[in-house]
Amino acid sequence: MVSERATRTTPFAAMDVLERANRMDDVVHLEVGEPDFETPQAVTEAAVAALRAGETGYTSSKGKPELRQAISDYYDRRYGVDVPTERIVVTSGSSPALLLAFSTLVDPGDEVVLTDPYYACYPNFVRQVGGSISTVPLAAEEGFRPRASEFARTVDSETEALLLNSPANPTGAVLSGSTLSELVELADAADATVISDEVYHGLTYEGEDHTILEYTDDAFVVDGFSKRFSMTGWRLGWMVAPEEYVGHVNRIAQNTLICAPNFVQSGGVAALNEVGDDFLGDVRETYRERRDYLVSEVEDWGLSMGYTPGGAYYLLIDVSGLPGDVLEQRSRGGGTSSRKAFDAADFFLEEAGVAMTPGPDFGTNAEECLRVSYANSAERLAEASERIQRALERVEIPAAD
Ligand SMILES: Cc1ncc(COP(=O)(O)O)c(C=O)c1O
Repeated sequence: MVSERATRTTPFAAMDVLERANRMDDVVHLEVGEPDFETPQAVTEAAVAALRAGETGYTSSKGKPELRQAISDYYDRRYGVDVPTERIVVTSGSSPALLLAFSTLVDPGDEVVLTDPYYACYPNFVRQVGGSISTVPLAAEEGFRPRASEFARTVDSETEALLLNSPANPTGAVLSGSTLSELVELADAADATVISDEVYHGLTYEGEDHTILEYTDDAFVVDGFSKRFSMTGWRLGWMVAPEEYVGHVNRIAQNTLICAPNFVQSGGVAALNEVGDDFLGDVRETYRERRDYLVSEVEDWGLSMGYTPGGAYYLLIDVSGLPGDVLEQRSRGGGTSSRKAFDAADFFLEEAGVAMTPGPDFGTNAEECLRVSYANSAERLAEASERIQRALERVEIPAAD
């Protein structure tokens, strides 16, 4: 019999949209969060050299010593934080690191606090370990940035973990150092542990990235190479665990994952040690230009956003103003507010050939939104915008209040 846990896992809408879009001709893909840059050459060369040198066996389950050292050096260089290599566990992407953190911390019934909107996969991770989910609502008018006072209403002695994500998917919101520090205090007072997903660090357009490790040693950090080094398919990430947890994390990793691929880890060493700030600076600048372009285009489309994202490569646009009768012509579900985003995604895919992800996947506060990823070239973004404008010319959008 299929386990209850398996049946509780919901599909990832962005991948469903991608599969549909791939069956159509000439679609502009704004649904997936995958960098369109090539992996830096130095990374590829290091991995190929490792492969040729026969680095194809298992490594220590915590990862190669040279990679763990490179990660520790990176924290020192970038944030001025001392992270001993003993607290670092290398994983096949940040996703397994999330699963390891939840498996180590959460018992069935334990409460995990997420912000809403959240990265669509988070609730499924919590369900995998039988945890219960509470959410802190975020609003576009506040730039989707949580305030510590909002968390204070939800976090209490029942809370086992708080999951933070900055820059955030799907909103692009960036948390300030002072908010992170307040949230650490709040978690400490409730005897809860912070898990900080920092996979979009490096892609911040306003202000600085702050790791949670600047404020505490008692948090889990989940991070990886996918986004800032354009290495999604390499499957390489890491976790920093609090000292008392790291042995437990490692035992689960040894049994279930064994290790991240050996030669891929050599690519990771090159990414951290050889890829200079020029690469990251250029990538960041390119995303920033795309963000600025799209934010102004959304206004021209007559749709509203109500905020400017500070990082990552996503925007949430509000489609509640799109007239239901137009959308319902292609409705698969019929008019309810949570269907509106699905109908809008269908409308833009079928009428404009532009794929975007329906918001409900990202929580109730994204229910009437579409998530747009600008991890696509300036030319394709301009093409998408033109197509959307043409499709919307047939639709009269009521003026916003
Ligand atoms: C917020 C967030 N965390 C984690 C991941 C997983 O990334 P990976 O497993 O490729 O490191 C993603 C991927 O889109 C993400 O958006």
